[in-house]
Amino acid sequence: MLAGRRIVLGVTGGIAAYKAVEVCRRLVDAGAHVAPIMTSGARHFVGETTFSALASEPVQTSLWDEDSPIPHTRLGQGADLVVVCPATARLLADYAAGRSSDLLTATLLATRAPVVVCPAMHTEMWEHPAVQDNLAVLRRRGVLVVEPEAGRLAGGDVGHGRLASPDAIVAAADAALTEPDLAGLHVLVTAGGTREPIDPVRFIGNRSSGKQGIAVAEAAHRRGARVTLVSTVPAPEHPGLSVVRVATAAEMREAVHAAAADADVVVMAAAVADFRPAAVADQKIKKHAGVPEVHLEPTEDILAELGSAKVPGQTIVGFAAETTDVAANAVDKLARKGADLLVANDVSAPSVGFEHDTNAVSIHGSDGSLREVELASKAEVADRILDAVVAYRLSSTVR
Ligand code: CTP
Repeated sequence: MLAGRRIVLGVTGGIAAYKAVEVCRRLVDAGAHVAPIMTSGARHFVGETTFSALASEPVQTSLWDEDSPIPHTRLGQGADLVVVCPATARLLADYAAGRSSDLLTATLLATRAPVVVCPAMHTEMWEHPAVQDNLAVLRRRGVLVVEPEAGRLAGGDVGHGRLASPDAIVAAADAALTEPDLAGLHVLVTAGGTREPIDPVRFIGNRSSGKQGIAVAEAAHRRGARVTLVSTVPAPEHPGLSVVRVATAAEMREAVHAAAADADVVVMAAAVADFRPAAVADQKIKKHAGVPEVHLEPTEDILAELGSAKVPGQTIVGFAAETTDVAANAVDKLARKGADLLVANDVSAPSVGFEHDTNAVSIHGSDGSLREVELASKAEVADRILDAVVAYRLSSTVR
């Protein structure tokens, strides 16, 4: 969501200003056009040259820049997003009061773009009712607040008030720019490979890391959906994203059927075992007893079950990890399992699929549609899969 977007990065005078340098670099790396504004306080902590060198245009510091008579309106009107990092108590007070005392506060008043503020200050200041009241005013006006963390503060103190991590700030910027096109929908996602026990210490598993499924769940959450993630691997919890941990195909089946009844979209990204040991030994099988014979039985195909008893209006997305005849297998699987969309990848290709942070997929629709997603991060691929879901749902309401 950041690529090609114009972001004004306001930096105010706190010790955490040095961390805004990293935020600036990451926004630029993500393809955003970053215009930095430093307050006079910020310039006590970090040199202007640092931001000018990293950002997309030189730092601006004054309302009285002779090159531009109205820099605040140029910056404010042209912005897709304003991020204030760090935001001092003074900045929060001025912004809440609507005071345009410098270029940054004037820009904040001159913009209609979403605004993200990232407060950082000593614990006593952070907890002061005046600061909290100002934040409540800003939140009520729709400003997104990236809460500070607990940790080491200036002067060796430890407490609440340390600037949030660059990861959290960039994610908030991304979220602020995201269209909530899945708002009001319940999206059920599965992730990870199942483990089918042989005995209390051994299992039959597969190479799925769960990264693609988790990325889909996080993207759906960012796009406004209520998300249930049924996962065999640990996953981050966010408000509005509930995680159900499972291990086996049978546990996954039970959790999926429980959540699928009211799901608008089901994304079966998990690598579910096709076979499991017919009997599980109670005790560890000892080596000296000889090589055991493990009899396998088929598991139920959860995706096919969902496809054959489809909830009206539900969109079902299956996955297929293939090594040969990818397109033909995908089209066959799409029909065989009754899915609406099938995301196929060639896991024999370099940097694609299992355990990688990148993926390249083809998304086949039961309406004959085909979207190719070239090698990209799993987060990017997740958004393209959800784009396909949104387009499919839109076209099926028209059909
Ligand atoms: N799947 C499922 N339940 C299973 C096995 C797979 O829901 N017991 C789902 C996966 O989550 C994924 C898709 O089906 O969305 C993957 O199917 P796959 O295992 O590739 O298909 P198979 O029918 O096993 O076909 P083949 O072995 O011929 O590749």
